[in-house]
Order: sequence, then C-alpha cells, then structure tokens
Amino acid sequence: MREPDDLFSASHYAAVRRPIAEAYNLPPWCYTSQRFFEREIETIFNRTWNFVCRAERLPNAGDYMAVDVATVPLIVARGQDGAIRAFSNTCRHRGCAVTRGEGNARNFVCPYHSWSYTLAGELIAAPTDMDETVGFKMSDYGLIPVRLETWAGFVFVNLDRNAAPLADHLGNLPELLERYDCANLRLGRRLEYDVPCNWKFYVENLKDAHHVSTVHAKSISRYASPKKYWRAVQPTNGNIISTFMSYPGSAALLAGDTGFPRIAKLTDETAGTTAPLVFPNLYISCTTDCAWYVYVNPVAVDRIRLEQGALFPAESLARPECQELLPKYFKRFDMTQAEDNEICALQHRGLRSPFSTPGRYSTKEALVHKTHNWILDRVLGS
Ligand code: FES
Ligand SMILES: [Fe+2]
Repeated sequence: MREPDDLFSASHYAAVRRPIAEAYNLPPWCYTSQRFFEREIETIFNRTWNFVCRAERLPNAGDYMAVDVATVPLIVARGQDGAIRAFSNTCRHRGCAVTRGEGNARNFVCPYHSWSYTLAGELIAAPTDMDETVGFKMSDYGLIPVRLETWAGFVFVNLDRNAAPLADHLGNLPELLERYDCANLRLGRRLEYDVPCNWKFYVENLKDAHHVSTVHAKSISRYASPKKYWRAVQPTNGNIISTFMSYPGSAALLAGDTGFPRIAKLTDETAGTTAPLVFPNLYISCTTDCAWYVYVNPVAVDRIRLEQGALFPAESLARPECQELLPKYFKRFDMTQAEDNEICALQHRGLRSPFSTPGRYSTKEALVHKTHNWILDRVLGS
C-alpha cells in the first residue's frame, strides 16, 4: 500500500478509530514511512516522558552517561549535590556532542575546542579567544537543561518544558505496582539489542497475549499462555495500560526452575504478575520474586535499540546463593528476548510488501487497538 500525499488526513485512519470489532489495523505505511516516523518523534517523543535509565546506573557524584533518547542526544549526570540532571548533549560553541559513553567526570570538556561545563551544565571555560566577541557572557552558554523526574528508580526525561509532571503521565501506575516495592529493586543485569523493526511492532508485541503459545512455545508458554492462567486488563488512568496474570509463580523463570523468595509484600491472594506499558515505549513486568523492563528506543523508522533490564529486590541480590540463581533468570530472559526480537523483525519484513493491507483486530487485542489510537491521538493532533 503506497503512502498517500496527504499522510496526516484523519480520513486515512478512520477505520482504526472505530470500536474494535469493526476496526482495522494501522495502515502499513505507519510502520515504514519516514514522514510518519518524523511526525511521531515530533508529536510523541519530543513531548512526552521518556524512560532514560535506572537511577542505580549513576550511583555516585560525577557519574554520567550519554544517551540518545528517541534520536535526541542527551547527557544524564549525577551532580556534586547528588541530584541527577539531564542536558542536551550539544556544545554551545559549535554543536559537537560534548561527551560519549559513560563514566565518572568532574567536568565535561568538549572534544572539539575544549569548552568546559560543570556537572550542573554551567559553562566554566571557553578557550577559543572569546575576548573580542561582542556581548558574549559565559553564563548565557551553559548546556541546555532537559526536564528529568524519577519514580521508584525509573528515571524519565521530557524535552517539553511545559509538559505536565511525570506523576500525571504515570497515572495509577504507583498503586498498581505498590505491593512489588519497585523502589527497592536493583539492576541485576542490563542488555541492549539492535532490532530491525519499527518501534510500534515491538511495543504492540509487549502487550499481545496471543503470540505466547506460538512464539514462546519452547520457553514460557507452559504457564504464560492465556489458555493456562487468566489475564485481566486492569483499570488505568494516565498514559498507561496494564494486565494482571494469575499464575502464582515467578514469570521470570522457566517452568520447573526455582529462584529467590517471594517479594515480601505479596500474599497468596495477591501473588501474580502485573505488567504495565508506560506509553509510548516502556514495559515493566513485576512478578512474584523480581521484575524486568523492556525499553523500546526508536533509532530510525526501521530500527530500534532495545534495552532489557532485570531487576531484583536489593536483599535478593545480597543473598549468598545469588550467583547460582541469577543464571536461571537470565536463561529465561535470553530465550524470550531472542524469540520476540526475531518475530518483530519478521513482522517488519512481511509488512514492507506492497501487498500489505490493514488487517483486522481480534476483540481480545484491545490493548493493541488502544495503543494504536493513543498514537493516532498525538500524530493527528486530535
Ligand atoms: S564545538 Fe565544542 S568547543 Fe567547539
Ligand atoms: Fe513475547
């Protein structure tokens, strides 16, 4: 299906807007069009709260990392005062990226001509003979700050200075996850993957239950298939969707494996897995003994940088048997991640065909339908 010239006319998307039983999927060009991708960056990612890292990646004053958040280069750093801040990673002299990678620094020194900035972003040296530059004041040329807020160790940034606070975006997420004590979780492992697919394929997949019995037939389908244990869509507000799966064991292990003790606040009645998606691209799954997140970072219309973090209660990581137990979790995560990465790349490959047309939803795909409409609300501005 060819992308139309009037790409953002609401008429092209009217079929997605219908009630789910009558609706059609997003037109294929939404996953392949450069213009559509650029509009998503502008209307979604440049205006919303984007996950950027777990706070424990920057434990000490001076710890920093350079990250691209939905194509925008940023620095995230913990200052001498202990606060984490974010800045545009763009030198105020002539635009070079001020830093790369991650590490610990006293100041940031631009590699091009050594303009230097503090961890709080102030310009403290401009050794490029600025004496005769009319009206130049160092205090006017600090790194451009970006809004940053944290919830339970999840650090988010927002490029829009006028955006509502993070708490409004997260809605009732803190209540849904309260009993899993997310603030007590620590990273046990973090991996990144390059996946050749549009970001929406991966996000849809994260809230798609039907694929578990096929794509994950060899890994988690013994308990995670919707035919085995019931899943409930939870009432939410804010920019999230969420499900609860009733399987009372750890969804982070393969069936038959045993791991860490149950999270202290969970009871026989409340044990199960709560898995919200924070729009647009952060999936968190809290299960009975740990949690994991998947962050889908768009790099290009046909490529994502995927981050998977395994989170465990701090006291579990301190247990003597920790090094024996962690590989069991990692085995499960590695299997399912490879399965999901492969199917999303295959989906992108198939949908690129000129014969691709919008398909129909199952009425059990309500969260995929909701995700599509959340995206259209922003891209179309309605
Ligand atoms: S571009 Fe950074 S010092 Fe010149
Ligand atoms: Fe999956």
